[in-house]
Amino acid sequence: MVGIAVNGGAGRYPEALRADAIRGVRRACEVGWDALEMGALEAAVSVVRFLESDPNFNAGRCSFPNVDGTVEMDAMVMTDDLRLGAVAALREVRHPIDAALAVLLHSGNTFLVGDGARRFALEHGVEPCSNDELVSREQLARWGLDVDDTVGTIALDRGGRMAVALSSGGTPRKRPGRVGDVPLAGSSGYIVKGSGAAVCTGVGEDIMRVLLASRAVAHLGDGPEAAARRAIAEMVELVGGRAGVVVMDVEGRVGAGFNTGQMPWAFITDAGEGGGGA
Ligand code: GLY
Repeated sequence: MVGIAVNGGAGRYPEALRADAIRGVRRACEVGWDALEMGALEAAVSVVRFLESDPNFNAGRCSFPNVDGTVEMDAMVMTDDLRLGAVAALREVRHPIDAALAVLLHSGNTFLVGDGARRFALEHGVEPCSNDELVSREQLARWGLDVDDTVGTIALDRGGRMAVALSSGGTPRKRPGRVGDVPLAGSSGYIVKGSGAAVCTGVGEDIMRVLLASRAVAHLGDGPEAAARRAIAEMVELVGGRAGVVVMDVEGRVGAGFNTGQMPWAFITDAGEGGGGA
C-alpha cells in the first residue's frame, strides 16, 4: 500500500477561499503521488514545496508577517527511521522545507534557528528571496485573521517507509521571535515505524503543550479516524485549543479530525482518494 495525505491549514475560511484551498490540497496530493517512486522523504518534501509556492496557503510565498512586517517561517521533515531536520524563525528563503531537508541531510544537528539556519541553508543551495516576495497584501486581506496556518503531509512509499513534512508562516500578527509547533517533532508531526504517522495544523501554543501528533499516533490502535478525533478531544479537555490532525497508518488507512471551522485536506492511496474539510 502507498499513500499521500495533505492538509492545508486550519481555521475559519471565508466561503470564497474554500474551493481554492481544496483544489490546492488535491493538486498537492497528486504532486506527492507522482513523487512517491522516489521514496517517502522525497514525496513529502515535494508536497510541501508545492504548497509553499501556492498563494492559497500560509507557508513560503504568502506567509503571515509578524507585527514588524517580517516573515519568520518554521518547517520540519522527519522519516520513520527517526532522521529529523527542523528550522525556525527563518527569514528570506523561498522554500523553508528545503532548509529543513538540508538540516536533516547535512548538518549533523536536528534543529537550527534564525540567522544561523538561514546561513546554513544558503550554504547548501537553498534559494534566497526578499521579505517582500513572501508577503501578499492581497492574500492577507482575503484571509483576514482567521485562517491560521500550517501545511503538512504524510507519505507512505512502496517500501513501507513513511515521512512527514510541514511548513508554516506562523500565526497572524505574531510577536517577533515567536515559534509555533511546526519545528517540534511530536507536536506538529510524528511517526512511529510500523504503526503510522500524524501531521497537525492549528494554534501552535495549544498543539505543543499536548504533543498532539505523538498523541494521535499513540491512539492508532483505535483506527485512524478515531485516533485523530480522540487526540483532538484530549487537547480540548487538557488545554482548550483549536487544531486539526491528519493521520495515516502503515497500511495506508487515513483519518482526520479538527475542531476549527475548516481544515482543507486530501489523500490518495492505492485504495482510493478522499478528504474534505472546507
Ligand atoms: N501551527 C502553526 C503555528 O502555530 O505556528
